[in-house]
Amino acid sequence: SSSKLLIKGGTVVNAHQLEIADVYVEDGKIIAVKPTIRVGDDVLVIDATGKFVMPGGIDPHTHLAFEFMGTETIDDFFSGQAAALAGGTTMHIDFVIPVNGSLTAGVEAYEKKAQKSCMDYGFHMAITKWDENVSREMEIMVKDKGINSFKFFLAYKGSLMINDELLLEGLKKCKSLGALAMVHAENGDAVYEGQKRMIELGITGPEGHALSRPAVLEGEATARAIRLAGFVNTPLYVVHVMSIDAMEEIAKARKVGQKVVGEPVASGLVLDDSWLWNPDFKTAAKYVMSPPIRASGHNKALQAALSTGVLQLVGTDHCAFNSTQKALGIDDFRKIPNGVNGIEERMHLVWDTMVESGQISVTDYVRLTSTECARIFNIYPRKGAILPGSDADIIILNPNSSFEITSKSHHSRLDTNVYEGRRGKGKIEVTIAGGRVVWENNKLMVVPGSGKYIQTPPFNYLFNGIDKADARYLSSLQAPVKRAKSAT
Ligand code: URP
Ligand code: ZN
Ligand code: ZN
Ligand code: ZN
Repeated sequence: SSSKLLIKGGTVVNAHQLEIADVYVEDGKIIAVKPTIRVGDDVLVIDATGKFVMPGGIDPHTHLAFEFMGTETIDDFFSGQAAALAGGTTMHIDFVIPVNGSLTAGVEAYEKKAQKSCMDYGFHMAITKWDENVSREMEIMVKDKGINSFKFFLAYKGSLMINDELLLEGLKKCKSLGALAMVHAENGDAVYEGQKRMIELGITGPEGHALSRPAVLEGEATARAIRLAGFVNTPLYVVHVMSIDAMEEIAKARKVGQKVVGEPVASGLVLDDSWLWNPDFKTAAKYVMSPPIRASGHNKALQAALSTGVLQLVGTDHCAFNSTQKALGIDDFRKIPNGVNGIEERMHLVWDTMVESGQISVTDYVRLTSTECARIFNIYPRKGAILPGSDADIIILNPNSSFEITSKSHHSRLDTNVYEGRRGKGKIEVTIAGGRVVWENNKLMVVPGSGKYIQTPPFNYLFNGIDKADARYLSSLQAPVKRAKSAT
């Protein structure tokens, strides 16, 4: 394949502007973006007339080769990434889980898993306990491993969940390192209660999963995490915002200037809980994820929040378990591995649901599927832009063509798809990753090992002004009141 490439005549979209231009690529980098670039015949030319040429999607939230709830996701770093590329996503950020409490062992395990990568990837780190060693290892992650984001789970009692004391320690540590604190916001103690109640009522099927963890528990934990981050004065990123309850807490905090980022995921934006009443276990269980997919109405509200800027970027939480894995919970919904697919579908779903419907512009589309993620994780404009010097991660979308999602035609290893049968307008016809055409004419041309690890440096733009706010707070405090020693 050629290392020189010219994309001709398309509408080039960046988050800040839209222009008709040619894009010239050499050795994995974008060299020039301007009208009418002339090249020699050693250059592969792709005609993009009438189509949108956009930065490849960046999925901020995935779980590939994730060992969870007694099993491991069916998609690993190769199959999950191949699926991503077929759907126009050219980079993802995956969650490293510590091994026996060690962050270093965790990241080493993920480095191995990622060796077969066919696209670029970054890492977040989950923090599941707290001691001096974890605190020290967080520094190593930021300084030596290029990991600048740490996820705290307020749910999954008995496994990943942490308490408020640990969350506070973690928030303080993140702040001192310039790292971004992320939170899975559900009240895990209340979820545990809710689950017991369902079992007592004899509700053991998949519907028990959603009924045991209602939106109020997501709202509570979101509010709590936001307030604790405000108390520490450090930015907070709320992952998988699934409900109006959580979204409204984010809106309220942002209104008064608090640095809170809200990440809805594809499933929460387009699906609803009609699966709850499906009598077929397999069909219902495939939708089980946490927080659960809510009643119709939450999805529309999340879309609206995305269009007004209350929420800033879209992830997937791609965490794929096939039917036989989901069947681990056939007698007890608490044992159904949590997670749904989306890494391959996100770009099409967001286009159809948000752009095609007229809720957002094409430039907004680029911002919330790619650019904002690159800014938050501090890799812009290397990623998230079509600019000279940027990595050549590019998609070509035909707005007049259409897509259809089926488990028969998708590229994930999953035997099901939560978006089965969905069709929509807008088709990603070409994906270019690292300057190489990897998806064209519905064919994947991926190379294991070609993906690179992308370090995400600390102190993103959200940290601007944090120290000034601290100084203001300190100077607003009175000196201690002097009192006589006698108490009478
Ligand atoms: O159900 C989910 N979301 N599974 C993945 C783990 C997580 O909480 O993100
Ligand atoms: Zn070549
Ligand atoms: Zn989570
Ligand atoms: Zn997740």
